[in-house]
Amino acid sequence: MFILDKFYGAFLGMTVAADPVKLMKQEVGKAAAALVKSGSIVGLGTGSTTAYTIQFLGERLQSGELKDIVGVPTSFQSEVLAKQYGVPLTTLDAIDHIDIAIDGADEVDPQKNLIKGGGAAHTREKVVDYLANQFIVVVDSGKLVDRLGSTFAVPVEVIPMAITPVTDAIKKLGGKPELRMGVKKAGPVITDQGNMVLDVRFDSIDDPVNLEKTLNNIPGVLENGIFVNCVNLVLVGEVKDGQPVVRQF
Ligand code: 5RP
Repeated sequence: MFILDKFYGAFLGMTVAADPVKLMKQEVGKAAAALVKSGSIVGLGTGSTTAYTIQFLGERLQSGELKDIVGVPTSFQSEVLAKQYGVPLTTLDAIDHIDIAIDGADEVDPQKNLIKGGGAAHTREKVVDYLANQFIVVVDSGKLVDRLGSTFAVPVEVIPMAITPVTDAIKKLGGKPELRMGVKKAGPVITDQGNMVLDVRFDSIDDPVNLEKTLNNIPGVLENGIFVNCVNLVLVGEVKDGQPVVRQF
């Protein structure tokens, strides 16, 4: 698919013009998979970027270049993709550490703080990503922001019976919560854990460390999508001179 995209883009005289965001995601997803070493326990993130990582891990295993890895999925989606591409899986009950986790993000600030949860998987992602000895984030350049909350609302996973009091508590904090609704499914999005998601807009997130704690202290909140002080490396897919490239910080 990747080669085809490049071919058709080049044929049209615009190497990445067909879908630059997709090409950036492919390039950065593959770059992260290339960092995984044989024998590693790997946290498998969720989303369209890490889907390429999982695909490439499977290709490296199949070619014999990579051996003896096991993945810890962060969602039903990553579990299905790992099975599809032949990446063996394990659970947190069967291991005592994670060597490397690779995951996407919806926003990344200059301090490497994140907003995650665009796929409603941030609770399991946070468990796996925070356990990893090395946590690598893979994003296209459109995800970089000066300040968290500039473009994306903060996803908050809430147990269903508490949705009304949690909504009220978040409004008192100055947030504007909106219940995430399903696409091609009537009613709210239901997470892999059977809960609901409030997408919360804040005028400005000046202190992500405190906001993460404050949101999680509301009774009925399971987890929110602010990730702070946990990322080792950010890989950014960009387009330079018509070609997808990867830079890191
Ligand atoms: C899912 C996530 C994703 O990692 C995040 O939404 C980025 O997704 P994509 O790679 O599709 O842009 O946090 O809960």
